[in-house]
Amino acid sequence: MDYLALAKKYQTPLYVYDFDHITAQYERLKKEFNARKSLICYAVKANSNLSLLKHIATLGGGFDCVSIGEVKRALLAGASSYKIIYSGVGKSDEEIKEALNLDILMINLESFAEMQRVELIAKELGKKARISVRVNPNVDPKTHPYISTGLHENKFGVSINEARKIYLHAHRSDNLDPVGIHCHIGSQLSDISPVIEAANITSDLLRELRAADINIKFFDIGGGIGIRYSDENEPNLYEYAQGILAALKGQDATIVCEPGRFIVGNSGELITQVLYEKTNGDKRFVIVDAAMNDLLRPSLYEAYHEIIALKDGDKTNCDVVGPICESGDFLGKNIKLPKLEHGDMLIIKSAGAYGYSMSSNYNTRGRAAQVAIEGGKDRLIGKRESFEDMIQNEREFI
Ligand code: LLP
Repeated sequence: MDYLALAKKYQTPLYVYDFDHITAQYERLKKEFNARKSLICYAVKANSNLSLLKHIATLGGGFDCVSIGEVKRALLAGASSYKIIYSGVGKSDEEIKEALNLDILMINLESFAEMQRVELIAKELGKKARISVRVNPNVDPKTHPYISTGLHENKFGVSINEARKIYLHAHRSDNLDPVGIHCHIGSQLSDISPVIEAANITSDLLRELRAADINIKFFDIGGGIGIRYSDENEPNLYEYAQGILAALKGQDATIVCEPGRFIVGNSGELITQVLYEKTNGDKRFVIVDAAMNDLLRPSLYEAYHEIIALKDGDKTNCDVVGPICESGDFLGKNIKLPKLEHGDMLIIKSAGAYGYSMSSNYNTRGRAAQVAIEGGKDRLIGKRESFEDMIQNEREFI
């Protein structure tokens, strides 16, 4: 990829996404479930760029959303409403109402109280809400505590017992139609055995529900497939799929999975430009034009992203930091880089997932521009945010 040409054409910081790699990742996963009815619902939160969503919709993908905003993004990008799932522990009445009116595939319930709200709102609208229940199987996913979701100590989903109660109630309700069962235990999983354990627990409940004449059609195993940022093990997709298929043995249900990072993580990079180098005592800093507002993962989770320079030279250790007024504003610590000068480019790898989508205007910095590469051609898919964009909701009040 000609990073220099891209940086010159679109300026920096710049997110670049390889759409052909997205296609390849999608197809790789889809292929593993070929023997069964399956639906890949891309987790919009990982990267919600409209053109990127459109690309995935064109591949036949569905969408896993966590706000009505994400649902509307998916629809705008051309998603079919019957391929949209809406999860989240705190859906507002307004969001529930909109989701019902948009007639999406299912609303994924995360508490008994939420079920009651959905039932009430569906009744007011004269509708029967298709629902699934997010089961929290109390399985340790062995990942970073901030992205672990499948333990009872996490706020997500309900216990098996609570799920039973919800299904029994929904089954008898005129305004609820239980069509799915769902479970997502965490993100960036390199060991898939906890997912398989969760799939078995969830499948046991599915069997029990079927025996009680509750006709669940969708078995949703969530997302979480890990990717390689440095030397992590990438889970074996064949074993992942086979484990889920084995858990579901003898039961006819469409398999749904919700990968986010797996599809886009290694499909994206952040190009940034060196502003200055300096040393404080023995410590070397490379100051770049991207910052924690562009890519929060290093600051928030101490996540590692490989950073490479486009030029050669003897490498020494440095911290790559941004211009934001926080000591936590770093993109990499103890990274080995050659001597750099103003205008040199650095590439921050594996930035396609939870990069732009977690970016902010902190320090009144506009969000980066976004570019897609497809078939060797580049095109702008997100403009750089201007100062005017940032102040538009406040300006009239001064
Ligand atoms: N489904 C549900 C219900 C989820 O909560 C998530 C992620 C996914 C699917 C997609 O997970 P993935 O396949 O991408 O692992 N900001 C963090 C990740 C938070 C993930 C939240 N939920 C990070 O930057 O690592």
